[in-house]
Amino acid sequence: LILILDACASEQYPEDHEQLSEEERLVIRFSHVVGEETPKGLAARRFAELIKERTGGYVEVQVFSNSYLYKDGEEIDALLQGDVQIIAPAISKLSELVPEWQVLDLPFAFDQVEEVFDYVQGPVGQELFARLEAKGIKTLAVWDNGFKHITNSQRPIQAPEDMAGLRFRIMPSEVLYQQFRQIGAEAENYAFNEVFQLLEHEHIDGQENTLSNIISRNLHYLQNYITISNHGYLGYLVLINRAFWEGLPEEVQDVILTTLEEVTEWQHQVAKEMNEQNLQEIEACQCIQITYLDEEDRELWRQHLQPVYQYYEDKYGKQYVVSLPRFKN
Ligand code: LMR
Repeated sequence: LILILDACASEQYPEDHEQLSEEERLVIRFSHVVGEETPKGLAARRFAELIKERTGGYVEVQVFSNSYLYKDGEEIDALLQGDVQIIAPAISKLSELVPEWQVLDLPFAFDQVEEVFDYVQGPVGQELFARLEAKGIKTLAVWDNGFKHITNSQRPIQAPEDMAGLRFRIMPSEVLYQQFRQIGAEAENYAFNEVFQLLEHEHIDGQENTLSNIISRNLHYLQNYITISNHGYLGYLVLINRAFWEGLPEEVQDVILTTLEEVTEWQHQVAKEMNEQNLQEIEACQCIQITYLDEEDRELWRQHLQPVYQYYEDKYGKQYVVSLPRFKN
């Protein structure tokens, strides 16, 4: 496949594009908020390299990582206004634009990453993509970062009751807010690039995130306790401004789509491997106390968090909830 694409690329795009100025090249700016050494950071970089190779340098994807260009709360507006062409926000960050997407934030809704992919590829998922499309945003791919875990500075968390009174940072999602409130914890929305300092200055006690996000930001050194809870999913949508997309030559659209398809498959593998590797790192670091939840614990959490499902259903519709794997059989 790579060979075929390379052959196409050199036919369609003359080879001297390296010499072109920025005005003459087709520049696509891709902004994201995490580090380079994360499943999203690595995939964005790989996508940019392959596109450059396959278009002979004519299409240049410029990747801006670590919230360098836009941080949470800014990047979606920047995309809508055409200031940036591609972003890959965590799905929870779409809550304001298309709140129905918060269905993926529901705690213990999925046990396996594959179930999430099946859900978004099904009819209800297609409806969610269409809602974004109606807002002027096309989804190019779904990238993975696995499941979130809970870290905090105060005490080991085994049962939902252990969360009482603790203050957590959340992504901007009402469902995540309800998840914490339901078990007696406080929750406040902050941008990802603020989390380290918030913890360091003890403005918050804890946070929930995937292992790659925890480790790449060294949050495990700041926190005393981690619960390997796998309680909520964290994935990304790779989004492009629709008007910009529609204005691209067909051959550029084609090379973007085929390359992304290949990079996405790779990204899913990297996310899986990195989270496994990061768990070993946490287990070996002797820097944080680890609590694991067994099936009985998880059932208790599920029961305590059930009202969050009712909250979602009442606000955004039952159809999204009943299609979750948890309720399907
Ligand atoms: C977070 O804000 O915790 C995550 O969404 C960061 C990311 O993009 O993975």
